[in-house]
Amino acid sequence: LGDIPHTRMVPTVNGNADPLYQQVANRLIDLVEQGTLRPGERLPSVRRLHKQWGVSVSTVLEAYRVLEDRGVLDVRPQSGHYVRARAHRAPLPRAEPAPTTPRALDSDLMVRITLRAGQQGLTRLGCGLPERDLLPLSELDKVISRVARTCRDSHDYVVAPGHIRLRRALARRLVDAGCTLSPEDLVITNGCTEALDLCVRTLTKPGDTVVVESPTYFGLLEILRAQDVQVVEVPNHPETGVDVDAVARALEEHDVAAVVVSCNYTNPLGALVPLEQKRRLVALCTDNEVPLIEDDAYGDLGFEGDRPPSLKAFDTDGWVLSCGTLSKTLSPGLRIGWVAPGRFLSEICRRKLISTLAGATVPQLAAAEYLQNGGYDRQLRRLRRSYRSLLRQMCEAVTDRFPDGTGISRPRGGQFLWVELPEGRDAMELFEKAWDAGISIAPGPMFSPSGGYRSFFRLNGSVLWTPVVDEAITKLGVLAGSCEPAPD
Ligand SMILES: Cc1ncc(COP(=O)(O)O)c(C=O)c1O
Repeated sequence: LGDIPHTRMVPTVNGNADPLYQQVANRLIDLVEQGTLRPGERLPSVRRLHKQWGVSVSTVLEAYRVLEDRGVLDVRPQSGHYVRARAHRAPLPRAEPAPTTPRALDSDLMVRITLRAGQQGLTRLGCGLPERDLLPLSELDKVISRVARTCRDSHDYVVAPGHIRLRRALARRLVDAGCTLSPEDLVITNGCTEALDLCVRTLTKPGDTVVVESPTYFGLLEILRAQDVQVVEVPNHPETGVDVDAVARALEEHDVAAVVVSCNYTNPLGALVPLEQKRRLVALCTDNEVPLIEDDAYGDLGFEGDRPPSLKAFDTDGWVLSCGTLSKTLSPGLRIGWVAPGRFLSEICRRKLISTLAGATVPQLAAAEYLQNGGYDRQLRRLRRSYRSLLRQMCEAVTDRFPDGTGISRPRGGQFLWVELPEGRDAMELFEKAWDAGISIAPGPMFSPSGGYRSFFRLNGSVLWTPVVDEAITKLGVLAGSCEPAPD
């Protein structure tokens, strides 16, 4: 047991931390993932772990039971618990080289696939919906009916920049993201989608060049396509996110109207950009006087430690426009998003006024009330804890059931797994075959400005692990084995 590091377990207080057995299980998974405990090795006996980690025998037994169910360990009668010897550990997906010359976006794959995904009866592993059963919907419903009944202005226009109560509540929350903002620095939008759209339409005109990371969120690509701008791709690494050196090169080589990135638990990679790189990126755009649009939709959904700062936290001169949303943590149907547009505040506000005049009032009031008094921190802890364990479970199932050589991301937060099929197999073929089998996935080319990532796809790993999902992953693994290499 000498090389099993000591660990301090946090007692469960009002559901504020994982149950102890889950903490023990998570810690053991960390040790397996870090290679401290290797496949085939015996785990410490229940009694030793009980003594060494200061948790009860039944807690250790429960943790071992969870790990057995998850296929992390095997029980050998009379002998003990052993780390399951996997045929392979899935490698990380690769970052594909991206074209460095500006190009127009000509595919509307996202719109076509999103329209198709409305179909009934699908097992939805492609879309980015948060898990419904993990959202505080009944509390939220109560808040909505209370504010609708009691707030005198609930049927008034609340013109841009949006309801002061919500802007106040958000400014307070964004302290956790390292931001010092006043309510006057924020504009409420119809989700993060409208925030991004307002930024792109305010800062660019057709034909301009915009720098984006690749792979990136397909909704952003559609917004850029609608604005008829050219894009320059910069690589996005599965663990450390946007390549800041490549952004620097793009700024040197092209006349760039804006840079758009996501730095915290990115979609689709789940990457987290290191602090120093965030600081560098903001300094680079500030020095070049280029607006930096940040999509921080998943910043609240990290699996460990404190919430990472948004790029706005490093913004000294107002060049960062930081977009956020409650869609991923509270309710996508509320349609509450925002932008902190820095020096572009008045232009963004004017554009919001022109395009929609005002956002719906009741959702703004309800969101403000929930953020102030509804237990949002508790909700975030619950989501983080659940997503961490659900994503792990899906990652293990994909590792076990997909063809050897399949690559999988190891997200540090967010909702997604990014999967690379081996031998260049065609993820568009997998998409079609899966669709016929009643399963939706998001194929890689949706996330590429240039039709790349043909062997990649995204899974929503935040769905509850039901027998239907379990069967769908098995089916996808079999179908992946039957796919041909993608055409060049
Ligand atoms: C990275 C990213 N940004 C923005 C959005 C859109 O969010 P909203 O529902 O707030 O418009 C999504 C939704 O999937 C997303 O993944």
